[in-house]
Amino acid sequence: TGPETVGPTGQPTGADRAWVAQSGAYLTTAQGARLYDTDHSLKAGARGPVLLQDHHPREKITHFDHERIPERVVHARGAAAHGVFRGYGTAAGVCRAAFLGKDVETPVFVRFSTVLGSRGSADAVRDTRGFATKFYTSEGTFDLVGNNIPVFFIQDAVKFPDVIHAGKPHPDREIPQAQSAHDTFWDFVTLHTEATHHTLWNMSDRGVPRSYRMMEGFGVHTFRLVDAEGGTTLAKFHWKPRLGVHSLVWEEAQIVNGVDPDFHRRDLADAIEAGAYPQWELGIQTFPDIPEQTFEGIDLLDPTNIVPEELAPVQPVGLLTLDANPSNFFAETEQVAFHPGHLVPGIDITDDPLLGGRLFSYLDTQITRLGGPNFAQLPINRPHAPVNDMFRDGMHQTAVHRGVAPYRPNSLDGGCPFLAGADTGAYVETPVRVPAAAKVREAPETFADHFSQPRRFWLSMSPVEREHIVGAYTFELGKCYEQAIKERGLRVLANIDPELCRRVAEGLGLPAPEPTVPLADVTPSPALSQVGR
Ligand code: HEM
Repeated sequence: TGPETVGPTGQPTGADRAWVAQSGAYLTTAQGARLYDTDHSLKAGARGPVLLQDHHPREKITHFDHERIPERVVHARGAAAHGVFRGYGTAAGVCRAAFLGKDVETPVFVRFSTVLGSRGSADAVRDTRGFATKFYTSEGTFDLVGNNIPVFFIQDAVKFPDVIHAGKPHPDREIPQAQSAHDTFWDFVTLHTEATHHTLWNMSDRGVPRSYRMMEGFGVHTFRLVDAEGGTTLAKFHWKPRLGVHSLVWEEAQIVNGVDPDFHRRDLADAIEAGAYPQWELGIQTFPDIPEQTFEGIDLLDPTNIVPEELAPVQPVGLLTLDANPSNFFAETEQVAFHPGHLVPGIDITDDPLLGGRLFSYLDTQITRLGGPNFAQLPINRPHAPVNDMFRDGMHQTAVHRGVAPYRPNSLDGGCPFLAGADTGAYVETPVRVPAAAKVREAPETFADHFSQPRRFWLSMSPVEREHIVGAYTFELGKCYEQAIKERGLRVLANIDPELCRRVAEGLGLPAPEPTVPLADVTPSPALSQVGR
């Protein structure tokens, strides 16, 4: 809703006012008192000491002193855009979510990011890219918080602090920002071999996208879709860019980082400003919801696995168009808060142990990053569906709540308002049966194979893509200071493929070790290659 009235300085007033800074005819203090000078402090004489009693400079400098908020602990550097998502209606058989309905249009905000670098780092580094989408649906906000790589480094969220500590700059010298010359990164991914698949994707051309507009996106985890009758289907989400999937070659990336560290950010904003709106189709791979939660022998709860598209084709369910740039980077791109637990009726979670930890982490970190529990009231985070949550008070509360009885039922605020039932649009968890089992910490046996999926990826690459992968491993491992880490890196590569190992070993001037596990007999998946995408 718009402001109720406009005050003398042009500022909207009234209970619902939205502050529009510096829109008035004259400058004021934060309290609205008109200023006659903002360039000179009050002093005892033109050459005398500055007076503490002068409120305006203190207010101005104090505000400035607190302008920065903590950057995201990961994905600190990002660029975002507004857009619209239009459902095709093709998901109706498996998912009741209203926003997937035929021709239903839903406003969205999408933030792309690198993972490891700080807010001021360069864009075209070798890294995973975040692809987070906030759908402001009529049934509440749905966040699809994905990456441009369909698998993850670890299988259990309890290791997330560890993998990020390994990937962030070394604590002594605070370098590097990216993966190169990174002993701790390579130490981690060669000791925790579940990281092999994600690392291989990073070392492929996917690690250096040409543009945010030319990346695929993946929800990574398997989700559980619920249809109108309560039937369930397991599914993985995919974003397919209309412009195809394109990458920089490493030499280009290095030049770009020097010449224009804002390359991806600029590219996205310029394209939208020029009316070349980037588009992605949202698609789903679906799998029967069987108790084992596997498909063709692939454990669907293991986030280091993909399901080849040849086995489960991606079915398009809607179209995303990004058509507007943010007008204020801080208010929108910086303050947006995504959360994999922001779900709408029709989309439920599975027991992927990585997803389980994520459901805790995002809200927790945002309470620090955005200064308390009320950041859902920030304009970019406000749902477009009505909110009636009984949450009260707290840091940075901006709502003026009415009534005296924020509890239900009550007999003071008009009784007990309507609570939606399962058949009236409420979010109802799927009553999935939890197997009677002892509490354990061990991972399931099906999480133990760390090499056959990376092997499939390598065997699916074209000759030039293989050359790039060999070059990337040689460059990155070659920059490690510790010889033992290079050697361990080669032992991991031997378990993916002896040819890959031999070529990197040659580049490093080291002997190529033999595999320590039997090489899996896998069928290549041509859909994994970027050629023809
Ligand atoms: C931020 C994706 C795993 C914790 C993000 C963002 C993306 C993302 C895209 C940036 C959101 C934005 O643009 O604001 C993923 C994916 C994962 C994954 C695809 C695995 C499949 C995890 C895990 C944890 C975690 C396991 C913790 C246990 C965080 C935190 C942030 C973040 C703390 C910063 C959020 C903020 O400050 O708003 N993640 N992530 N992520 N992620 Fe993840």
